[in-house]
Amino acid sequence: MPPHLSRRTTLKLLAAGGPLVVASEIQGRPAGRAGTLDAGQTPAAPPQPLRVPPEHDRRIKWWHDAKFGMFIHWGTYSVYGRHEWALENEAIPASEYEQLAKAFEPKRDAARDWARLARNAGQKYVVMTTKHHEGFCLFDTKTTDYCAPRQGPGRDLVREYVTALRAEGLRVGFYFSLMDWHHPDGARAAQDDAARRRLVDYTHAQIRELMTNYGKIDILWYDVSWPLDAAGWESERMNRMVFSLQPDIIVNNRNRLDGDFTTPEQRIEAATTGRAWEACMTMNGSWGYQAADDDWKTSKQIVRNLVACSRDGGNYLLNIGPRGDGSVPDESVRILESVGRWLSKNGQAIYATDPCQPRRSNYASFTRKGNTLYMHVHFWPGDRLVVSGLLVPVTSVRLLATGTPVAFRQDDLRVVFSGLPRTAPDQPVTTLAIECGAEPKQDQYHVRNLRARSPAPPSAR
Ligand code: GLC
Repeated sequence: MPPHLSRRTTLKLLAAGGPLVVASEIQGRPAGRAGTLDAGQTPAAPPQPLRVPPEHDRRIKWWHDAKFGMFIHWGTYSVYGRHEWALENEAIPASEYEQLAKAFEPKRDAARDWARLARNAGQKYVVMTTKHHEGFCLFDTKTTDYCAPRQGPGRDLVREYVTALRAEGLRVGFYFSLMDWHHPDGARAAQDDAARRRLVDYTHAQIRELMTNYGKIDILWYDVSWPLDAAGWESERMNRMVFSLQPDIIVNNRNRLDGDFTTPEQRIEAATTGRAWEACMTMNGSWGYQAADDDWKTSKQIVRNLVACSRDGGNYLLNIGPRGDGSVPDESVRILESVGRWLSKNGQAIYATDPCQPRRSNYASFTRKGNTLYMHVHFWPGDRLVVSGLLVPVTSVRLLATGTPVAFRQDDLRVVFSGLPRTAPDQPVTTLAIECGAEPKQDQYHVRNLRARSPAPPSAR
């Protein structure tokens, strides 16, 4: 929020269609298609200032502390079981694909099971596909009959989802795909302005329903903006509507505006310029249920990923792809339960942590909260662990899961932790809490730097 405006003034401004960024408003571009230039338009525009919506810090605080969320990809593709892009990748005719919506018959307690699974896994929020690229709406909508209440399910699946999450104390996120393969104008909107008008009205109306009919929503997670750009989708107006209906919500950047956070996909990569970021990832290689995809990550890899996100100040959104009946593949359940057991003992090393500079080790990675450094050992080397180049004094060390004190010795070169068990005391990762006298920092080139500073031996003079 601009510092000179009160929250109420800012919200009034938003509702009245005022600019989202008062201080650094930039030139709007005419409505157009993604990635193309209109005739007469100059290419290579100078880099534009970030257009982060007002009150970002207030709205996003809980999310930074939460660190770990569940992504759910669920739709009529889950009945087919061959990945959520099946319609395009197998070129399935529309009339054939629409049969899936009739065969979609989820069990009653599916959402309750996911919510419990998420809570037991230590996930604090969930983001579910309310509509994926296939165009099928899991929610009740006045805009189309291609929606759960009027097809196979016969009920509003988004409502069940929201109710189930609230019962488990989880924050509620809605994924929403702008790209729509089912809408007649979904592909031609970039060439035909009347088609664009219809598609944009349809899309905004659906977002309005989602933001109006389900109480307080915590996250709106846009996806794929093809075939339009931000001007074409009228994304400024879209976000203004969202914030006027849900003043506390956070939105991502996939409607082609900056939004509150960035969304690296299938990779962990901290955003530059200190932006909030969330890495979204699958547990195998598919978002939507793909029965034959057996390429599962291990629970160790998942914990390591969560640690890497927390270390660099980001969040980790981990996907499940339930079957058409809502049941979750056993491997996903097993992994999430294992991560949940680990978090129940080691959660303080993840939740509400601060960005962490130390990172050098062959068998561990690190997170930090204040002056406490957490060392997460994923390859347990034996009864002795070593950290090099720590630039602050260590005052005490313990195994985080049990509180057992750990003996240590620190000199100019390194800190050596000794007297530890030969085999890893905790699975899939063992965490040490290292209390330091100041914010832990590590010299990444400690050994080289020490050698460079030491006097040359007489023979070399
Ligand atoms: C991509 C894919 C989509 C998936 C999403 C998750 O945009 O098209 O299937 O939902 O990534 O981030």
